[in-house]
Amino acid sequence: MKQETKLFEGKTLAILSGGGDTPAINSSIEAVRNRASLLGFKVYGVRQGWKGMLGEGDVVDLTNQPYDGWYGGTALRSSRTNPFPSKKNPESRVPQVLRNLERYKIDVLVTIGGDDTNGAAKRLYEMEGIPVIGFPKTIDNDLRTRTIHHYEGKDIEAVLCPGFPSAAKAVAEFSANLKTTAESHSRIIVLEVMGRDAGWLTGSAIFGGAGPLALIPEVEITRERKEFFLETVKEEYMRSPKRCLVIPVSEGVRWFDEKTGKVDVVYASSEVDEYGHPRFGGISGVIASEISNKLGIEARAQISGYYARAGHCRMYDRRLTQTLADKVADLLIREEYGMMPVMKNLVPFVELEEFNTSAIDMGKIGNKPLSEDYFDANTFSFTDAYRNFLEIVLEKPEFDEFRYNFPVVIPE
Ligand code: F6P
Repeated sequence: MKQETKLFEGKTLAILSGGGDTPAINSSIEAVRNRASLLGFKVYGVRQGWKGMLGEGDVVDLTNQPYDGWYGGTALRSSRTNPFPSKKNPESRVPQVLRNLERYKIDVLVTIGGDDTNGAAKRLYEMEGIPVIGFPKTIDNDLRTRTIHHYEGKDIEAVLCPGFPSAAKAVAEFSANLKTTAESHSRIIVLEVMGRDAGWLTGSAIFGGAGPLALIPEVEITRERKEFFLETVKEEYMRSPKRCLVIPVSEGVRWFDEKTGKVDVVYASSEVDEYGHPRFGGISGVIASEISNKLGIEARAQISGYYARAGHCRMYDRRLTQTLADKVADLLIREEYGMMPVMKNLVPFVELEEFNTSAIDMGKIGNKPLSEDYFDANTFSFTDAYRNFLEIVLEKPEFDEFRYNFPVVIPE
């Protein structure tokens, strides 16, 4: 019997993951690996992002290897290495990348990452003709995936990045747990959430029962806004039945500092990475102490930090990564490079199918802030449209409510 040759028999595809990890990267790697194998590719994994393409290279063979796509993080590991010259590293390491692509005989490279990793890959494609395909990834959900959210007759430009659904679920669960301790102490807890310059992830705390007040990087907290915000905090606290609030705030919130007279973010360190990004951290402490000092209400800060991106891949992300990997297979067959698969429409779990995907230029995915449709700057709260966006991705809120109204005992 004649043996059938697969379309890409004898070719090698390599996968790398760069930037901050998410719970959905292993799922993306497994899904791309499986589809590429079916097409006949030998599949390699490049370890530590672009770093694994430098020097002698750090490459493993993923073909026919068992792979656990439910396990969070990335088994290929990650780095924020930039092969192009940067302020931190002015030397171009592109020749090293090209040399290794040749040494390992890599025909196609799939880069799982955000704007930085995929942007570098796109430059390699444009400058050197290296066949690359991007794959979206970030818990920040700030890549311009051009995913349309149909809401009450309106088409809102939303974003849907693998990693966000799992992280959003984790933040919702975290805030739901936090609520019980806030209730017990009649406190305000200011919950700091990752997300860099965008408030997408911060909003997911409302699905854990946090809010209604929240602060996001897209809304600058000037001196006047700060006064109004603090007044609103007091009103909401007094109105809350259990005298407590969990206020989600983005790590990148820009807050008026009385000492300097300026609006600024709070940095965790003065260092920047090879793409020029600083690291945020600590705004929750600043806001909590201003609430305590100015309003006389006990307030505490809690940084959710890496909890958001830690742990296993959730159901929605699992199917999302598989659906986008189906589109990668389509791009491979058409030999369409320099592109990235995305969801065309925001759809619930059961509609995550290839016909709902499209491909966009992977070099034009720059930072997408939260749309104005999703946050009301006047009330410092997420809108019903945002709740609907979350309902599609997370299905239902996570929180329990213990409603009690014990009769007060009056001694005789
Ligand atoms: O971009 C993803 C992200 O998790 C951001 O939300 C956060 O600001 C940053 O990475 C943290 O970076 P690092 O992993 O270098 O601490």
